[in-house]
Amino acid sequence: MKRVLSGLQPSGQLHIGNYAGAIRQFVDMQADHEMFVFVASYHALTSTRDPDVLRANTRQVVIDYLAFGLDPSAHPNTHIYLQQDVPQVTELAWLLSCICPKSQMDKATTYKDKIARGLSASVGLYTYPILQAADILSVNPDLVPVGKDQVQHIEITRDLAQKFNHAYGDVFKIPAYKLQDDAEVLPGIDGQKMSKSYGNDIDPFMDEKPLRKRIMKIKTDSTPVEDPKDPDNCTVFQIFRGLAGRNDPRTLDLANRYRASGSQGMGYGNAKQALYELILDHFADARKRRTELINDPGYVDKVLKDGAAAAQEKVADVITRARQAVGL
Ligand code: ADP
Ligand code: TRP
Repeated sequence: MKRVLSGLQPSGQLHIGNYAGAIRQFVDMQADHEMFVFVASYHALTSTRDPDVLRANTRQVVIDYLAFGLDPSAHPNTHIYLQQDVPQVTELAWLLSCICPKSQMDKATTYKDKIARGLSASVGLYTYPILQAADILSVNPDLVPVGKDQVQHIEITRDLAQKFNHAYGDVFKIPAYKLQDDAEVLPGIDGQKMSKSYGNDIDPFMDEKPLRKRIMKIKTDSTPVEDPKDPDNCTVFQIFRGLAGRNDPRTLDLANRYRASGSQGMGYGNAKQALYELILDHFADARKRRTELINDPGYVDKVLKDGAAAAQEKVADVITRARQAVGL
């Protein structure tokens, strides 16, 4: 059984982009993989300064993982844990930072993007990919499922693992990344990449009324109802397609409605209504489960305790070998 590791930062409410780009893959893989899925709480310190907010977001990500369908009770090989419960990853990050050329960090595009968005240029943000490499290498996974924007970080991880193995002997497996089939970056309500930190996201757990209001706010152009429209250029359609799937009959049907004209023409309001209904339908189970989980903190605590124990076992082994290899 192949081992999988992935995680998300608890930097705000998860959105349908996180689900479509990352979490959906985790859920699909758990039937036949050994899953290590964690909450990247140390990473979130690069953007979150309020301890209460960090604690609440960390807990919320765990609940959302479970609500979206990760299920350690049905899949004993699925482990969910908090990064702070395996603090040895910070030691491994140090070992890796000592073999990482500074020029490699200079090339990381996520750092530049985040600075451009207004995050403060801390050393932690700058070396963020090294800590991510440590998360990954610490459990020796075969596969790392991520969204497209994370590919460079996995390439850095592979490179650091190779450099380390070359310098000190084989300690790390070289992991591969895995993208969702027909992976798409979902745009947010303003047409830019949907992101927790852009204020343009859609939270699938919102109450119905505010959810509908949010969807109605998606930016569209002013093409009149009776004119044909290009679905590929419309944010509403792109979100719909990202969630339902490129070849799903509902996506193909909506595309045809965009292209229709005259009395058959469709207004953007109808497309938004279709997206709203898709979201309610797609996340019906998740929304129900999430309410149950919020009312069952004991179960969530148990998931995290078991997950931490499983992760610690793997991490302890890798760290021991890495320490020995470097001469500690
Ligand atoms: P955010 O930009 O909202 O802070 P993260 O950078 O924490 O999201 O990403 C968490 C995971 O979700 C990553 O694997 C990322 O590739 C995926 N992801 C984030 N935003 C999107 C999006 N708009 N479309 C598809 N996948 C996304
Ligand atoms: N950088 C990832 C993101 O923003 C989160 C992350 C941290 C991660 N460590 C990881 C993802 C290890 C995969 C593997 O989404």
